[in-house]
Amino acid sequence: MAWLPLLPFLPALLLLLQVPTAAHASPLGTLPEGTAPCKAGALCPQVSLGKSNSPPVNVSLYYEALCPGCRYFLIRELFPTWLMVMEILNVTLVPYGNAREQNVSGRWEFTCQHGEEECKLNKVEACLLDKLESDIAFLTIVCLEVMDEMEKNLKPCLQVYAPDVSADSIMECAMGDRGTQLLHVNAQLTDALEPPHEYVPWVVVNGKPLGEKSQLLPLVCQLYQGKKPDACSLMASSHRDVCLK
Ligand SMILES: *[C@@H]1O[C@H](CO)[C@@H](O)[C@H](O)[C@H]1NC(C)=O
Ligand SMILES: *[C@@H]1O[C@H](CO)[C@@H](O)[C@H](O)[C@H]1NC(C)=O
Ligand SMILES: *[C@@H]1O[C@H](CO)[C@@H](O)[C@H](O)[C@H]1NC(C)=O
Repeated sequence: MAWLPLLPFLPALLLLLQVPTAAHASPLGTLPEGTAPCKAGALCPQVSLGKSNSPPVNVSLYYEALCPGCRYFLIRELFPTWLMVMEILNVTLVPYGNAREQNVSGRWEFTCQHGEEECKLNKVEACLLDKLESDIAFLTIVCLEVMDEMEKNLKPCLQVYAPDVSADSIMECAMGDRGTQLLHVNAQLTDALEPPHEYVPWVVVNGKPLGEKSQLLPLVCQLYQGKKPDACSLMASSHRDVCLK
């Protein structure tokens, strides 16, 4: 499976990212003025170093839960970019993708590219985004998307990032009216895309579709108007050379 190479470093990532929900305060104590309170647990010290009043770069991902290219982009491009420059990013996930919806006697019914299971998982992820704080929802969705059996892994992923939220409450949302309503909103957001999406993953950065998917980090760095995070200088070509002995 294409995902296997990821697995060796996953436990380390999960450890690094373990977020005590009650401990949102920065270990540094006081945050620099103008910095949003850090919600990313162990990563907070880094995040709090930068101070800037420039607006963050908007990155929206239109995707569907079981599309391999979507999973690859989320895990190998968006997640690492977020880890490096989260303080200048405003990430929005819109699970729906190439699904279709139909009004059947007043109720929305969905048809998904990768079958019923995908519709269910799109709703699970929409419910996570609805119920959890956005960084926590993002981490939980990344945790799921790395796994082959997402539904089975909902509980363990929630235990890592949102131990107070039960998998049952998320499944109840996903299987009920709320899940339908949330997926319908995502359908409308997806159908309103201008220009319309041609495939998924469809990535929109500050309102424009991203062409070359591997260029997310350099583009975000380039678009950000404030003081660039240190990770951005690693993009400079001189840093790509080897150091000769
Ligand atoms: C972040 O994106 C959401 C929409 O996805 C938007 O409502 C919100 O205003 C954005 N925040 C900033 C600071 O741009
Ligand atoms: C859905 O269909 C029902 C009747 O089948 C209709 O009353 C309702 O207005 C429709 N809703 C939308 C949003 O099209
Ligand atoms: C990000 O999106 C929000 C909401 O749509 C918008 O107000 C803001 O201007 C956008 N930021 C940038 C840098 O385009």
